[in-house]
Amino acid sequence: MKLLIRMRKPTLLISALLAVASAVHAALPALDMDLMQTIEDTNKSMASHIAGSDAAGSLKDAQELHELFGAVEAHYVGKGDAVDGVELSRKSLQLTKKIIEQVGGKDFTGASESATDLSRTCRACHTFYKQS
Ligand code: HEC
Repeated sequence: MKLLIRMRKPTLLISALLAVASAVHAALPALDMDLMQTIEDTNKSMASHIAGSDAAGSLKDAQELHELFGAVEAHYVGKGDAVDGVELSRKSLQLTKKIIEQVGGKDFTGASESATDLSRTCRACHTFYKQS
């Protein structure tokens, strides 16, 4: 039983590597970089508001991020062939929604964890669509 639990992580890692290997690195028309810069600034602002247990500030930033990721999702849905982009923007939508709920319930520890997951999602998408 213990072995089985230990086996799960490498298996996950292997599937993640396979997913990266099979990703289509097609030259997508550029995503609006002003939008990404706004996402970057809002994400930083949200992190400091969550760290400071500022419910109103965190809520405003999380709602703004949620809307911005709606635009990112629309961009990738519009591409038609960007499965990873669609999936990762939907994950960002789910995480920002979760943060809105957690901040609403004054769960700043949970919100902070979700914000960490969100930052991982940023990096995952940048790895998929990095312009070379
Ligand atoms: C679904 C995909 C996706 C997600 C999710 C995503 N990004 Fe991006 N982002 C991109 C793409 C594509 C680029 C352009 C990458 C490149 O040129 O290498 C980019 C570029 C950027 C840039 C560079 C902007 C510039 O002016 O050059 C920043 C900063 C950035 N993202 C921040 C973030 C942050 C912070 C998050 C998460 C809160 C995030 N992004 C989530 C797709 C995404």
